[in-house]
Amino acid sequence: TIDVDTARTGAKIDDTMYGVFYEDINRAADGGLYAELVQNRSFEYSTDDNTAYTSLTSWDVAGAARVLNDDGRLNARNRNYLSMDAGSTVTNSGYNTGIAVIRGRRYDFSVWARTDASARAPLTIGITDSTGDLATARRVTARGGWAKYEASFTATRTSANGRLSVRAGAPVALDMISLFPRDTYKGRENGLRKDLAQKIADLRPGFLRFPGGCLVNTGSHEAYDEQSGWQRKRSYQWKDTIGPVEQRATNSNFWGYNQSYGLGYYEYFQFAEDTGAMPLPVVPALVTGCGQNKATDDDALLKRHIQDTLDLIEFANGPVTSEWGRKRADMGHPKPFRLTHLEVGNEENLPEAFFARFKKFREAIEAAYPDVTVISNSGPDDSGSTFDTAWKLNREANVDMVDEHYYNSPRWFLENNGRYDSYDRGGPKVFLGEYASQGNRFSDSLSEAAFMTGLERNADIVKLASYAPLLANEDYVQWKPNMIWFDNDQSWGSANYETQKLFMRNVGDEVVPSTASGTPATTGPITGAVGLSTWATSAAYDDVKVTGEDGGTLLADDFSAGDAQWRKSTGRGSWTVRDGAYVQSDETAEDTLVTAGDPNWSNYDLEVKATKKAG
Ligand code: AHR
Repeated sequence: TIDVDTARTGAKIDDTMYGVFYEDINRAADGGLYAELVQNRSFEYSTDDNTAYTSLTSWDVAGAARVLNDDGRLNARNRNYLSMDAGSTVTNSGYNTGIAVIRGRRYDFSVWARTDASARAPLTIGITDSTGDLATARRVTARGGWAKYEASFTATRTSANGRLSVRAGAPVALDMISLFPRDTYKGRENGLRKDLAQKIADLRPGFLRFPGGCLVNTGSHEAYDEQSGWQRKRSYQWKDTIGPVEQRATNSNFWGYNQSYGLGYYEYFQFAEDTGAMPLPVVPALVTGCGQNKATDDDALLKRHIQDTLDLIEFANGPVTSEWGRKRADMGHPKPFRLTHLEVGNEENLPEAFFARFKKFREAIEAAYPDVTVISNSGPDDSGSTFDTAWKLNREANVDMVDEHYYNSPRWFLENNGRYDSYDRGGPKVFLGEYASQGNRFSDSLSEAAFMTGLERNADIVKLASYAPLLANEDYVQWKPNMIWFDNDQSWGSANYETQKLFMRNVGDEVVPSTASGTPATTGPITGAVGLSTWATSAAYDDVKVTGEDGGTLLADDFSAGDAQWRKSTGRGSWTVRDGAYVQSDETAEDTLVTAGDPNWSNYDLEVKATKKAG
């Protein structure tokens, strides 16, 4: 029974309540949302990014060509380039199964090239797959110092296995070998892959939190060194990511690959505007988190980062006559991007150290831009002493809004629907910047939906909420579950995507107070796709049979002690299907089970049958 109390008014719900959190994890950017089709276009991949990498990763060389790093380079932020002898060919294999093209669509090729003195170097560019040409080959002729050359193609066939080749008719130096679909989201140059951007836009996000996550606050906080090209493993510093793409120094990504920064701050702001989302950038607070737990003690460096943050606000909002507003205008957007919220830090595990630095950021921002809301955070956990200390410091300093993150079991989400009912209404507001249920996909999406009703009921205190992570390339997975999946030519939303879409597209104006009562039925056999939260909490079932696809894995937590079939009970357990029906209990440690990237993790449909024990 649901009783609706029309005499009382509930919390007002802001239009910006539900948004998206975008991070370049699971190769979300290069090979994902960023529409570039060539992998390692500037030959900057390095073992510093990933031990499997070389500067020729994803390139095949026929004939004589090599990567050089010397004074002949394109510029100080783009160190490596390719030197080719006459008659040599290089071929790029793109991402996943290759370069995906669609018959009849246009593709724009570009390359930076240099020849000795004024020698001419004809370049023949082809797009092919194993069965032949995918477009008519094109030719450009390079001559003299570094210059950009372009050609465009119309695909004559559709293929997801394409290769881009460049053949040199004479000695030549090349860099930034690029192929873009003309048809990007909203037709933006250097733009976004249309299907993925559209799936995000279809959510109608109220805000876009970017660019991470652990990506932001890990690594060195030093600047890129143009003399040596040093500082690959640096934190995400926004100034590295704007301006002409060939001048954006690539960087190691915390998640174990290289990031080109072709998708950078300008493109994020543009995407937020194109989707009607409020932009919400996160800057590093000089306390590294995500397992690196270290506070950088360098006053000059801290001052530089604080100034960078002020410059970021000027880049977003300043007039074209300002230094950074001018740069935005030069990139094609004279109008301001209307930044109103900004977050300092992400999941710092050292609350005191974080807070000392946060206060300095906040002071400087409030002095220069009193209308910008500065968001603080509460560490990596949803409870515990770090969390409590962080919240205490945030409360004492009257912080406007605090970011919370949690990844928990479906059961936790069901049991914590009332989490915010008792939050102090006089204290900081909550930004739930990252959350996801980590069980099985259908029970996850249901328990998230149930939990979101609790967020909405408390919309007076929970002002913003975003599921995480947003994107995953199915061949490069660091983290599961994720909201939207893709490969090189297709994308698909998860059940969690549908839950988010349902809430995000139907944001109410205000909560109507109501109460529900009743007892859910618990007897009889439970049959169907795994619904962990339905039965995993019960001590009272036997005759448990799990059937499904071989190799399927069932994850569950908190099984009751004493139930022989389900072995034990604290932490998580996993049950693997063999020969269609055999259930093997596996007592692997909890950490191992939830390690991101486990290919067997929660990706199968299993059927559970259980009968309630007598009594
Ligand atoms: O969303 C994945 C990661 O989870 C984020 O990078 C980090 O903030 C959190 O630990």
